[in-house]
Amino acid sequence: MDIRFRGLHPLFAAEVEGVDLRAAESCDILERVRAGMDQYAVLVFRGQPLTDADQLAFAQRLDGTLHSKTGISALQKSRLGNEALTDISNVTDTGDIMAREDRRRAYSLANRLWHADATFQDPPGRYSMLHARVVPPAGADTEFADERAAYDELPEVVKTQIDGLQAHHSIAYSRQTLGFEFSEDEKEQLKGAIHPLVRTMPRTGRKTLYLASHAFRIIGWPVPDARLLLRDLMEHATQRKFVYRHAWQVGDLVIWDNRCTMHRATPFEDARFKRELRRVTTLDIDRVAVAG
Ligand SMILES: [Fe+2]
Repeated sequence: MDIRFRGLHPLFAAEVEGVDLRAAESCDILERVRAGMDQYAVLVFRGQPLTDADQLAFAQRLDGTLHSKTGISALQKSRLGNEALTDISNVTDTGDIMAREDRRRAYSLANRLWHADATFQDPPGRYSMLHARVVPPAGADTEFADERAAYDELPEVVKTQIDGLQAHHSIAYSRQTLGFEFSEDEKEQLKGAIHPLVRTMPRTGRKTLYLASHAFRIIGWPVPDARLLLRDLMEHATQRKFVYRHAWQVGDLVIWDNRCTMHRATPFEDARFKRELRRVTTLDIDRVAVAG
């Protein structure tokens, strides 16, 4: 395969041409994709006619262990029959558009807040691979922000201030931001995870912010100070100059590195049109776990 990378943004994100992911099996091709991820952090592959099995197999070949959902089963759809395959859609298990008041819809609306996948778990997510099966005629783009570039542009005084800090992430917090209510039993299941606020990418040595709307406190800090710092960092990290916006076509597979990017969904007419994507996320198991 003659694999080529074409930059989509001045700082990160590239379209990859010349690859059929179903046949991407050689160590050489897979390593070139990983090297592309190290450089660009977001890779777009157009025209990939993947089945669920193809997508799962490619994810395993590229990055090993898959993340399986460990959240609240009542809030997760199960029509795909595989815990490693996440149903990113606005349809029910029978394929109908979800009602506006469907609790699962409200839960997934929080994907419109800037986040990285599974930062509320330990180990968290590393690569996410999202494949477009049905896309609405307008809207529903996904935005990505490069947190390495955002880190690089922080004032030195802020870099010094945040060095060594650890943040506590919980999916309950990001949902509650939108007014979503959990039962006591559900809250008990969603205690979250603690991760460094600044990480170093192991293969490139680049430093990166590690943020998400799931982050709600900084260990050892008063809560209001922590939330203000987290807000300031989120505002800095999501400036337009750090953002690539992806307009989906059927057959797109987009891979992003959750260790050094954030992403968010954007609106579409979800009471009128269907949108169906499948996500597979790998586990960030090389990272040394931080005791909570
Ligand atoms: Fe996500």
